[in-house]
Amino acid sequence: MEPVSSAPDAPARDASSLDVERLRADFPILSEEVNGEPLVYLDNAATSQKPRQVLEAISGYYASDNANVHRGIHELSRRATDAFEGARQRVARFLGTEDPGEVIWTRGTTEAINLVASSWGGANVGEGDEIVLSDMEHHSNLVPWQLLAARTGARLRFVELADDGTLALEGLAELLSERTKLVALTQVSNSLGTINPIREIADQVHDAGALLLVDGAQGAAHAPVDVASLGADFYAFSGHKMCGPTGIGALWARRELLEAMPPYQGGGEMISLVERHASTWADLPHKFEAGTPNIAGAVGMAAALDYLEGVGHHQILRHEQALVAHAMERLSQVEGLRMFGPADPTRRAGVVSFVMEEAHAHDIATILDSKGIAVRAGHHCTQLVMKRYGVPATARASFYLYNTHEEVDRFADALGRVQSIFG
Ligand code: ALA
Repeated sequence: MEPVSSAPDAPARDASSLDVERLRADFPILSEEVNGEPLVYLDNAATSQKPRQVLEAISGYYASDNANVHRGIHELSRRATDAFEGARQRVARFLGTEDPGEVIWTRGTTEAINLVASSWGGANVGEGDEIVLSDMEHHSNLVPWQLLAARTGARLRFVELADDGTLALEGLAELLSERTKLVALTQVSNSLGTINPIREIADQVHDAGALLLVDGAQGAAHAPVDVASLGADFYAFSGHKMCGPTGIGALWARRELLEAMPPYQGGGEMISLVERHASTWADLPHKFEAGTPNIAGAVGMAAALDYLEGVGHHQILRHEQALVAHAMERLSQVEGLRMFGPADPTRRAGVVSFVMEEAHAHDIATILDSKGIAVRAGHHCTQLVMKRYGVPATARASFYLYNTHEEVDRFADALGRVQSIFG
């Protein structure tokens, strides 16, 4: 996903053609009341809500097809295997690859990155090698590399953050050298909303002879992904941020990289021949999938991709940017409120992170909750971002396809109440 830079000004109030009112009816939870108020769910960067199409796919699988995959000769096992492998093909199609063997099921983005750090990193990274990250990374794209560096003696280097919440990419060239093995960056910042220019970065990384891992946890939910045109060598993402269930995600990598990587975990299904002291491995993708997988999760994730395609996945980012533009305008009128991240809404996905003088982020979130408004408060698993901007925590509103301008207004009005209590 590249910044939508063709928009001449801030996105128009409804620049997308999403029929938000109609699609809200697909999400049962959105009609709930919380603390006596209609729910305004603005914590989508943490996890998205699920449409009934996804809920029905999961319960339909358990009600009619449930069995273990790749194991039984019986009809239900065949059906479960077809559903599971069909879901893998669905993910492959979403990523623009024709080879479902390049799609490895994981528990989510975190496990996908740990898989690469452990398997690829263990085989390819040694003392004195360098891995380039950024100060914008979620802990899930930082701590696995710290663990690898501690094991191997490799060195971590960091792209810094500019004042406006973008990556200071003018520093990247200096960080890249023949020692660089991998650059691992997020596509979209979960705490700032910044959309990174991955394509441009990929060319620089490849020119330096390194590989590029893209953390797509916050990217894939907002716009379709084509891993080849993105220039990624590894792409990791989660189902639950994009209307799918928790506990399922995927790692994509080029076949030749995966073929050369050792297994991540050992167990059933990932083997070909097992003897007392040695085993051989199954073909891709099964080499990386030890144990009974999250079959219902995979079915739910495929249903989520169908759903997003059906409503217009390519429209979501523009809709969110219109909401962000509106939120930024309203929040700029709240005295003592400071926002983080790019001032230009077209350089962001649907995230607005902020602090207010006097009120701690948790106080803000608590008061908003009393009005039925769900936001996240804390460091958002990005302590390096907090340190860079000199705050312990922020409050964060994050929007998705089903959020409306009226909800943004309720959120902004409620911040006025926070201001009157603490201001
Ligand atoms: N990574 C998730 C978030 O940003 C949990 O909230």
